Amino acid sequence: MAREPDEEWDNHLDALQRSATQHQWMDEPRYKRLFRDIEDRISGVLGGGEYEWADRRVFDSVFDQSTLLALHKLMQGGEIETLDFPIARGKEAHVFHATTTNGPAAVKIFHTTNAVFKSLSKYIDGDPRFSGLKRRHRELVNIWVRKELRNLRRCRKYGIPVPMPRANLRNVLVMDLVGNENAPAPRLKDVSIDNVEDVFDKLLTYIAVLWQNATLVHSDFSEFNVLWYEGTPWIIDVGQAVVEQHPSSKEFLVRDVTRTVEWANRNGMAVDTAESLLRVIEDPAPNLEPLPGLD
Ligand SMILES: Nc1ncnc2c1ncn2[C@@H]1O[C@H](COP(=O)(O)OP(=O)(O)OP(=O)(O)O)[C@@H](O)[C@H]1O
Ligand SMILES: [Mg+2]
Repeated sequence: MAREPDEEWDNHLDALQRSATQHQWMDEPRYKRLFRDIEDRISGVLGGGEYEWADRRVFDSVFDQSTLLALHKLMQGGEIETLDFPIARGKEAHVFHATTTNGPAAVKIFHTTNAVFKSLSKYIDGDPRFSGLKRRHRELVNIWVRKELRNLRRCRKYGIPVPMPRANLRNVLVMDLVGNENAPAPRLKDVSIDNVEDVFDKLLTYIAVLWQNATLVHSDFSEFNVLWYEGTPWIIDVGQAVVEQHPSSKEFLVRDVTRTVEWANRNGMAVDTAESLLRVIEDPAPNLEPLPGLD
């Protein structure tokens, strides 16, 4: 039986990954063209943006071989036209502004190596007993990205305003850009809000809808993970969201509510955490209209 093209490509990526010695692979003639192509399409992120790459190593840690190949495939599939400039960089991921035939998009590229892993890998690389570890780490990242995508879909199903996920491959997640063509929406942390009561009310309602209707807890809810767009809050960064059955779900719920209350109180309100928590758990949450884009 003929292999699915996807499977073929995945095996190909795996083989490349295994044989990787940094950059050598780039010299192989059959990949040269491929990467000239990508280089053009990602040239926007190389300079001129808000962020300067601290050094070449940081760039390499984001755009490693497997990530470049995944981007190439997403570009071939038409999900991404060009990567234009970095919007943000975090501990876990870089987020880029992208252009697509369906308008602007946000592309979240998860790091496949982190500091801990890197410092460990010097003890692990070359020891045949651990030859599978790097791969397993990558697989964990890939699973994490799929989890974020599923959580985004689940949020939208229950009417929580989160960006619509469009595609994902390995450590790359493509989603709607919250914001305008050239201006991604600011974080709630970075704007001054006139109607704090209304916004607080909305945020608490979203936490309640997630808990009661979607049986989800965001678990990193704060003014850092809320974007302010067209006068209303949008929730992002749902990779770590857990279902109610998770042993720590209640603890995470309390933390999400506490942070939201703290934000409100820093902005001139005087709300009580226990009371807000009761509201989330006991006041029946409204049924919100699902957001479009689900099959
Ligand atoms: N869909 C989007 N539209 C516009 N901006 C976005 C979008 N997704 C993410 N961002 C921007 O990128 C930043 C980082 O995204 P996100 O919080 O999802 O990643 P993260 O790596 O988990 O960040 P951190 O570790 O700092 O919390 C956000 O604060 C936001 O400014
Ligand atoms: Mg975040």
